[in-house]
Amino acid sequence: MKIANIIGARPQFIKYFPVAEAIKNHNKNSGNAFYDILIHTGQHYDYKMSKIFFDEFGIKQPDFHLGVGSETHGKQTGQIIQKVEDVLIKEKPDIVVVYGDTNSTLGGALASSKLHTPIAHIEAGLRSYNKRMPEEINRVLTDHVSTFLFCPSKTSAENLVSEGFKNVLNGGALIPENHSSTHQTFTLNGDGRVIINVGDVMYDVLLHSIDIAERRSRILEKLMLAPRDYCLFTLHRAENTDRAERLAEIVAFVNDVSNGKTVVFPMHPRAKKACDSCGIKLGDNIRVIEPIGYFDMLLLLKNSSLLLTDSGGMQKESYWLKVPCITLRDETEWTETVESGWNILYKNYRGVHRPSDVNSAYYGDGKAAGRIISVLGRYK
Ligand code: UD1
Repeated sequence: MKIANIIGARPQFIKYFPVAEAIKNHNKNSGNAFYDILIHTGQHYDYKMSKIFFDEFGIKQPDFHLGVGSETHGKQTGQIIQKVEDVLIKEKPDIVVVYGDTNSTLGGALASSKLHTPIAHIEAGLRSYNKRMPEEINRVLTDHVSTFLFCPSKTSAENLVSEGFKNVLNGGALIPENHSSTHQTFTLNGDGRVIINVGDVMYDVLLHSIDIAERRSRILEKLMLAPRDYCLFTLHRAENTDRAERLAEIVAFVNDVSNGKTVVFPMHPRAKKACDSCGIKLGDNIRVIEPIGYFDMLLLLKNSSLLLTDSGGMQKESYWLKVPCITLRDETEWTETVESGWNILYKNYRGVHRPSDVNSAYYGDGKAAGRIISVLGRYK
């Protein structure tokens, strides 16, 4: 079976890694092997936004690099559709896998759906219910053209049910690894689709990587930081960076909350451009560094006293690593982290909480990619 994986932005390189590993495992143990075609749209192209992750995880070179680069949303998404279509026509995969909620996700999904190639959406069902976010548009539309909707949590499966999606396995709860449905053959032609809570592939990556990060990363020494003696800050969402007023409000909040404590800020190119062009003044305690790789980021996060972020992935990583998080947004898709008390939206901030524990069951058991490949391996 030919499987085409479409990736293009930083978090997608990370999410693809456990899937690639699961494909390798499947191919070792099964007669029905996958032939994995990797398509990189080129949405992210700087070394520190792209290639570093291929090097860190030993991900194979993309079979196709589409070189799309930065553009307005319409042009970027349009070019992705056009260029992915060319590849799909040539390669004729049996299934296309898309990840998350970026323009690469939507462009890949639209190109595939027009060619009637079934789509598997990893990280299906997430909702912020804020249509001003490009990511919300991308994920809603991608879900609606997908055949396999792989949800990372029960909440995301329930979101789909409330939008009228049917055929939810196991009532939206995490399917057991040996769930009978993963042993059945899936024949979902035409409008057929299935919603499956497999858990979060980001949890797979974290469990795989934490010991490696501890061994390999020298980021604390390099930045001369002591554990728990600094906060970590990341910012990249268009709704925060692209309006000067909002950006100034967030920066003032970070200055305020950090109260003179060191704040390490690996700066995303979008945030850098926005701060430069608006002339925003960061506090003297904010240490701006270049974007960093996954292992350095994991170690920096694990040893920080507080995370301030608008990233989706990092809200969960801080939750799993038991680091309190303030989310620099008006809403979050990862509502469980807020309900648990570890995460708080910045407008509701009244102080930092460290609840006694985390509920490790919210986002699966670190075996999401294996479940995904086991299901797709039974697709006819
Ligand atoms: C994209 C995703 C977002 C995801 C994020 C991860 C969309 C709509 N948004 O946002 O969901 O969380 O990636 O980082 O797809 N740039 C560089 N170098 C690069 C890549 C980008 O300088 O390697 C600059 C571009 O010139 C552009 C800005 O960063 O001005 C934004 O890049 P873009 O890919 O459009 O979106 P992100 O903000 O990264």
